[in-house]
Amino acid sequence: MAQREFPHPERERSEPSKDAGSSSGASVDGPAVAKADRAARVWQGALPGSIPIGSAAHKALFCRMLLDTFNPYKPAIIDWPALSEAERARLVSLPIWDIAVATEGKAKLRVLSYGARVEDPLLAEAIRLNGFEEGRHKDVLANLVAAYGIVLGEEPPYLTPRDAEWAFMVTGFSECIDSFFAFGLFEAARLSGYFPPELVDTFEPVMQEECRHILFFVNWVAWHRRNLSWWRKPVFAARVFAVWAFLVWERVQTARSVGGGNNFTMTGHESMGIDLDAARLMRLCLAENDRRLKGYDSRLLRPTVMPRLVRLALRFMRKSAAAPGPAAAGAE
Ligand SMILES: [Fe+2]
Ligand SMILES: [Fe+2]
Repeated sequence: MAQREFPHPERERSEPSKDAGSSSGASVDGPAVAKADRAARVWQGALPGSIPIGSAAHKALFCRMLLDTFNPYKPAIIDWPALSEAERARLVSLPIWDIAVATEGKAKLRVLSYGARVEDPLLAEAIRLNGFEEGRHKDVLANLVAAYGIVLGEEPPYLTPRDAEWAFMVTGFSECIDSFFAFGLFEAARLSGYFPPELVDTFEPVMQEECRHILFFVNWVAWHRRNLSWWRKPVFAARVFAVWAFLVWERVQTARSVGGGNNFTMTGHESMGIDLDAARLMRLCLAENDRRLKGYDSRLLRPTVMPRLVRLALRFMRKSAAAPGPAAAGAE
């Protein structure tokens, strides 16, 4: 009997699972898989009481969160669900596969490069796990494209970064942006039924891992900043600002290029044939972001930049929708 490696997520929602009972493997591995899945989503630190940001206890908290919520699935034995020709054609036509594989490959190298120069054993272990998981995402994607006959272009060379901390921060903040939108797009794909539920579920652990990564990363940023000497703090702040500026520039460039890979972040729902206006997609992203993060110790900082920006954008969109437009104002 084929083993279904990825679990159906425990969704704390009212709607029933669309694929309940559809996977024969799930009936065999169900309890163990569900246990591993829950352990990856719900986590509380052992120490009671408040934990100051930047303290050794804070470092232990965000490192242990990542290490203790590790899901030990193996990409090689994923039982990829059979697709109809139409479903396969939709999957093949998504303009994401090359960039997705390259992004995970780059992320692995960048994260591991920074981890190799970290002296603190617990932090180094957690960053190594982060890098391992990025490599595992790449393996999942490689297996998926092989299973469905998706042809990839040549992979770019993966170059060891000269400035490992910069590269780690570019990857971390980049994931904070992309994962936020990916959470909403992923849920939109699930709700639309555009892809079979078994296929959507296969990627669920990958999505939750990215959630753990951004949670880990924003806490590392806060902890790292607090532990710098007074004169390094402004340098670090300038580097954080420069990373954000670089990421904005990078996304503007890719948005300009027709068919650019990261365009998918904002237009992915159209590629997936999902009829969703921008405001609804943003609200879905916010809801999914909250849902995915809520199971982890509340003393950990949460990523705030994207939720704040998107809430601001929604407020602006509501205001401009409420204001009378030129046509309406001129109408008699
Ligand atoms: Fe990843
Ligand atoms: Fe990641």
